[in-house]
Amino acid sequence: MKKFYITTPLYYVNDEPHIGHAYTTILADVISRIQKMQNNEVFFLTGTDEHGQKVEEAAKKNNVSPKKHVDQYVKRFKKVWKEIDIDYTDFIRTTDTRHIDVVIKILNILFEKEEIYKSEYEGLYSVSEERFITEKEAEEENFREIKTLKEKNYFFKMSKYQDKLINHINNNPDFIQPESRKNEILGFLKKPLADLCISRPKERLQWGIELPFDNNYVTYVWFDALINYISAIGWNENNEKFKECWPANYHLMAKDILTTHCVYWPTMLMACNIALPKTIFAHGWWLMDDIKMSKSIGNVIKPLDLAYKYGSDSLRYYLMSNMVLGQDASFTLDSFIRKYNSDLANDYGNLVNRVLIMINKNFDGKIPEKYDYDKTDMELIIKAKEMPNQILNYYNNLKIHKAVELIMQLLRSVNKYLEVKAPWKLIKSNDDDDIFKASTTLYIAAELLKIGTILLHPIMPDKTQKLLQSLNVDIKKDLLFGTLNSNTKISTANNLFPRIEKEG
Ligand code: MSP
Repeated sequence: MKKFYITTPLYYVNDEPHIGHAYTTILADVISRIQKMQNNEVFFLTGTDEHGQKVEEAAKKNNVSPKKHVDQYVKRFKKVWKEIDIDYTDFIRTTDTRHIDVVIKILNILFEKEEIYKSEYEGLYSVSEERFITEKEAEEENFREIKTLKEKNYFFKMSKYQDKLINHINNNPDFIQPESRKNEILGFLKKPLADLCISRPKERLQWGIELPFDNNYVTYVWFDALINYISAIGWNENNEKFKECWPANYHLMAKDILTTHCVYWPTMLMACNIALPKTIFAHGWWLMDDIKMSKSIGNVIKPLDLAYKYGSDSLRYYLMSNMVLGQDASFTLDSFIRKYNSDLANDYGNLVNRVLIMINKNFDGKIPEKYDYDKTDMELIIKAKEMPNQILNYYNNLKIHKAVELIMQLLRSVNKYLEVKAPWKLIKSNDDDDIFKASTTLYIAAELLKIGTILLHPIMPDKTQKLLQSLNVDIKKDLLFGTLNSNTKISTANNLFPRIEKEG
């Protein structure tokens, strides 16, 4: 059976992960959990980009060998991913033998097919981006440390695939998403495409994969790193794992690395006769005070600082609900705390506490019986039956923030329902009828709490898992209204989202 294959970029191991890296990785994790919830098999790949000039320089600065440097940094990435509940299937490092073997194999194939040739080139070179750039690119502010460079190198005949790539983009509307990014690439492809320099002379750079046909050169870091998407799944045409996963459903990234993924990578695949990924999805940037959060600018927030302080679920919730996919979003601690207090501590947390405490106190900690439903009950039950499909629809179309909004709307309507029904008053009555009503109300509230919690699970896997366990619920089976068994003993959950009091 075809697996749902989703990837993140391979992050440079020249520093610790920040919120920007955490965002793409959490997004991939959320999407893969949404798929799993719907009984699809998932292969979720992340990893690290370990060769190239940036890593070589960072290692030099720390006075260690590049290998030692990457081994140290990769641990930090893995640690952060664990702490924020990233459940990846595989983690690939570009220094893994399994990866290097595939890069060498592809280089050999393309060299033999004369898709790679040697030539002298003189042009502008950006040291910060580690590549030759055009005059126009040199005028943009993304490229720093620009110098003129003349050297002999190996080139991949990328230009010959220009028309084929344009046709593919036009014939496959989902290939580049969102639409604005697709137009950006089509705009870029209006100008003649150059061939791609895929080597670096060893005098300039040693830390890379040596070209199998010329040991005076190493492979250009992007040519090396992009191949991870197929090396990790054991590329060769007959490999079962490869066949199960490829073509990838989503390559996720931010808009900074759109061209490498939408131009270099597809043309490399075309030259190797390998199918193209289904969708390349580029989200926007997390900004701090309107500037892109980045290591070189130094305005980064470390995800673990927030996760340790406020919990990994809260961080994931904020990031998923505050970015409209495709657009930029601003990160502020103030808005983080506001969102946490209003949605998690207030709306969701209060509902959890109310329902569980009332059931424990008045129904011996067992799911109450349901009796006759009245009009108010029915209104809420209809919502509980209709909204999950709308929410899943949003999820499946990557409108994650919309899905979250709708879940919160559903949970708020349960809080309102409880206010109207006031079961805490009915429970004190001597009339059996009132007790039956309170019991029915709490049954319905518990059902909706269950549904809302299952739907929040991809975003907040930690606390929702604890709550669902205490309700004895199976995420894959119990999204329908009415699956809770009356008289099942439930355990209490501690205050899941204590309010954050303003600091300072
Ligand atoms: N190593 C390359 C990618 C090779 S993929 C075969 C690279 N690495 S990176 O460490 O710079 O990571 C870039 C990616 O990190 C972005 O595309 C995005 O996924 C994430 N982000 C880094 N900063 C970000 C923001 N400020 N906002 C959102 N995402 C950001 O490029």
